[in-house]
Amino acid sequence: MFSFSTSGTRLSARSGILELMDDLGRALTTDPGMRMLGGGNPAHIPAIDAVWRRRMTELMHDGDALERTLGNYDPPQGNPPFLKSLAAFLNRHCGWDLTPAHLAITAGGQSAFFYLFNLLAGPMPDGTSRRILLPLVPEYIGYANQGLHPDLFLACQPEIEELSPHEFKYRVSFPRVEAALAQGNIGAICVSRPTNPTGNVLTNDEISRLSDLALAAGIPLIIDNAYGLPFPGAIFTDATPLFADHIILTLSLSKLGLPGTRTGIVVARPEIASAVAAMTSVIGLANTNAGQQLVKPLLDSDELLHLSRQIIRPFYETRSLEAGQWFHEAFADTPGWSLHRCEGSFFRWLRLTHLPISSRELYQRLKSRQVLVVPGEDFFFGLPDPWPHSTQCLRLNCSGNPETVQEAIGIIADEVKTLQFA
Ligand SMILES: Cc1ncc(COP(=O)(O)O)c(C=O)c1O
Repeated sequence: MFSFSTSGTRLSARSGILELMDDLGRALTTDPGMRMLGGGNPAHIPAIDAVWRRRMTELMHDGDALERTLGNYDPPQGNPPFLKSLAAFLNRHCGWDLTPAHLAITAGGQSAFFYLFNLLAGPMPDGTSRRILLPLVPEYIGYANQGLHPDLFLACQPEIEELSPHEFKYRVSFPRVEAALAQGNIGAICVSRPTNPTGNVLTNDEISRLSDLALAAGIPLIIDNAYGLPFPGAIFTDATPLFADHIILTLSLSKLGLPGTRTGIVVARPEIASAVAAMTSVIGLANTNAGQQLVKPLLDSDELLHLSRQIIRPFYETRSLEAGQWFHEAFADTPGWSLHRCEGSFFRWLRLTHLPISSRELYQRLKSRQVLVVPGEDFFFGLPDPWPHSTQCLRLNCSGNPETVQEAIGIIADEVKTLQFA
């Protein structure tokens, strides 16, 4: 057996994100009978798939565009004409003042986070060590194992606001966030908005308070906008996208329906964007350019904005609300169930306070009944103390085939009732 380095061991260990992507890949390729509510795959929306098919055809018939896309390396920062179009699009629709120097392309948002976290936290040249502060967990499982060094994250438990007997919402606990910042070893604050796994959208007030705290501490606020505005627009509240000199905003083409192109976008002050580009050159030389080529004309014509507003948002909002209705029908007066308020993303977040087993065990039982979900435990990383709530939740991607989702919700309710009334 060969020896692995400490960082190598950490990155290659079994992790929640590996289990999730493994389950997802297997279900999509080899197990068509599995009812797939795990993973974060975007839905195949026919009108959107038709746009990508059209764009591929256009690319093939546009002079030597296809040969240039497949046959040339782009600069590590991204394709220059794409960066120009993207800066103009974001300025037009968000009122910002970006130049291409504020942008860097990465191989998916996932890689952007690996670069950003390890750029801003870990051992520092002055001998101190910094961490990434997550003001609210549950937070995106994909961050959890990205540190080259241990204990990269410090997370804060949120307040839980009970909105009605079967609906709740997480709120940032500012006293906890302020206490964490007061420790003084934080390199950046990070939130996903809309949040994967809960569908929470931090309010404009919460996000501006976090921005003020980051500014006062002299550190960046990273906002993961994978589901947000202006694209893909899977956000159902009046949240406003925010950018400033100390904010690092990430976007992705994945949730538009292009996860296979692996295209992430970092929007940040030029010093950060060029550091990300430098890291891309070391790790991957250049980025995948197909996604950039497919999307560029849709930025120039604003078609992307219309697709986001008129097709993508209504699609996911309808699916999430329908799923909520099916939960009410299936769980009815079963004690202890509630859903996080549905404000964005593809997910419903189910809390089961009377569950006699952990959500990880429930996940295994559901898998054996051909229902794939994601257990909540892995979304609660970085908390200094154990929190019983972390074993009571499931994440469900409800954007798939409606009949399958409804059937799966029925099976989940049946399993929970069996366990609770045993
Ligand atoms: C909140 C969030 N951030 C980032 C990502 C990374 O996505 P990608 O690497 O496909 O851009 C995901 C994917 O599910 C996500 O949900």
